[in-house]
Amino acid sequence: MSTDIIATEQKPPLRVIVVGMGVRSMIYTRVALTNPELLEIVGVVDVDARRREYARLTFGIDPANCFATVEELVAVPKFADAVINGTMDRLHVSTSLPLLRHGYDMLLEKPFALNEDEARVLLACAAETGRTVMVCHVLRYAPFYQRLKQVMQSGEIGKVINIRMSAQVNYFHESVSFVRGKYASAEICGSGMLLTKCSHDLDLMAWLMGDNKPRRIASVGSMFQFVPANAPEGAGTRCLTDCPAAVERECPYSARRLYIEKPQRWADNVWHDSNMKNPETAEEKAAALSATDNPYGACVYHCQTDIVDHQSVLIEYSDGATGTFSMTGGASISKRRVHVTGTRGEVYGTFEDNRFTISAIVPGAPEGRVKHVVDVTEAQEGRHHGGGDREVVLDFIAYLRGEETSPGLTLLEDSVTGHRIVFLAEQSRLADGAMQNW
Ligand SMILES: NC(=O)c1ccc[n+]([C@@H]2O[C@H](COP(=O)([O-])OP(=O)(O)OC[C@H]3O[C@@H](n4cnc5c(N)ncnc54)[C@H](O)[C@@H]3O)[C@@H](O)[C@H]2O)c1
Repeated sequence: MSTDIIATEQKPPLRVIVVGMGVRSMIYTRVALTNPELLEIVGVVDVDARRREYARLTFGIDPANCFATVEELVAVPKFADAVINGTMDRLHVSTSLPLLRHGYDMLLEKPFALNEDEARVLLACAAETGRTVMVCHVLRYAPFYQRLKQVMQSGEIGKVINIRMSAQVNYFHESVSFVRGKYASAEICGSGMLLTKCSHDLDLMAWLMGDNKPRRIASVGSMFQFVPANAPEGAGTRCLTDCPAAVERECPYSARRLYIEKPQRWADNVWHDSNMKNPETAEEKAAALSATDNPYGACVYHCQTDIVDHQSVLIEYSDGATGTFSMTGGASISKRRVHVTGTRGEVYGTFEDNRFTISAIVPGAPEGRVKHVVDVTEAQEGRHHGGGDREVVLDFIAYLRGEETSPGLTLLEDSVTGHRIVFLAEQSRLADGAMQNW
C-alpha cells in the first residue's frame, strides 16, 4: 500500500482514542501529526498523568476526554471510531474486552494474548461484538517481507520444502529489554522472549506459509548467558557501585558504558522505562543508575531473569514441509534472516540488508540455476521496522473506511496461527522439548 494516500474529501479523519500512551503509541500516533486528514486523536487513557498530559498537549485533546483507566472511558458514551491499544503485554486482553463491548474497533499491540485461554476469550469477544481488531504485526508491511511473500506466492521457487528463519538480538538491546528491562520477567511482562519479541517472526513464518498449517511443534531453549556462574571473576552486583573498575571496564554490559558513555545503545529505554525525567548530566545519570532499586544499574549476571535468552522451534507442516526458527539474544548485531527452499529453487536474505536472493532451478542455464537479487533498499532503508510502524496504521484506517488494504493485513483472526505456534513452542520447551500436536 502506498504511503501517499490521498484522503477523499468526503471522508472525515478516523477519530481515535489512545489507550496506553507509551513508546509504541507515540510512534503510531505520528500519523495524526503528518496526516491530520486521515487520523485525529480525540482521547487518551493512561494511568500515568504525565503521559495523559503529553497526549493532551500534542493532539489538543479536550481535557474531558482524558482518562486514567479504561473503566472511566467506558463509563461515558462512545465518542470515537476506534482505539489504539498500546498498553503492555499483560494488559492487552483485560483492557480490550470492555473497549470492544463498548463498540470500539481496535488496533492492538502484539502479543494480542499471553496464552491460548486469553486468545480464545479475545477472539470470542471480537466475534460476539462484531468489532474489528487489527494486530500490530508491523513487519508484514516491510517491503522485504511483502516482496518475499509475492515471490513465494508466484510459484517461482516451487512448493516449499523447508523454511528457516532466525532472529538475533544484539547485546545492548538484549540487556536493556530482556535482562534488565521491562521484558526481563515473565511475572512482570506476562510472557517470555519468544512471545514478546519473536511473535513477529513466527507470525511472518505463518503468513509466508499461507494455508499450510503446522501439524506438530517442538522447542528447546534456556537461559544460557545471564546467570551468576557467568559473571566475570570479582564482579559486583551493580555496575556503578560495587563492581571493581578493572572488571566493569572490561564488561560489555557495563551500565556506565551503555547508558552514560554510549547513550545511542538504547539508553533512552532506561530513562523512559524508569519513568524518570531524562537526566541531563553524567552525574545525574550515574546517581540514577546507582539507586539500588534501579534494575538498569544491576549486573546482568545477577538479574535473576526468569526468561530464556535463546530458543529454537521446529515445525512440521500439514503437507510434510518443515520449518525452523531460532532466536538468540546477546549477539554482536541484530539480524533477521530467512532461507526458504522450494522444489524449483530457493530464496534467502537478511531483512536488515534490505535484499534477498532468488536462486531458481533452470536446467538449461550454464550453472543449472539462475540467480537474481531483489533489492528493497530504496523502499525501506532508514525506516524503523522497514516502514511497517506507519503502514500498519494506514492499513487500519483504510480497512475501517472500506478502502483497499495491504496484502499483509493483520486482522486478529489472521494473527492466530503465529501466536499459536509460540504457545505450543512454549508448552514444548516446558515439557523438555516434547512434540506438541496442533
Ligand atoms: N509491534 C512492535 O514492533 C512492538 C515493538 C515494541 C513493543 N511492542 C509492544 O507494545 C506494547 C507497549 O510497549 P511500549 O514500549 O510502548 O510500553 P510503554 O510502557 O512505553 O507504554 C505502555 C503505556 O501504558 C500505560 N498503562 C499502564 N497501565 C495502564 C492501564 N491499566 N490503562 C491504560 N494505560 C496503562 C503506561 O503508563 C504506559 O504509558 C507492549 O505490549 C510491547 O510488547 C510492540
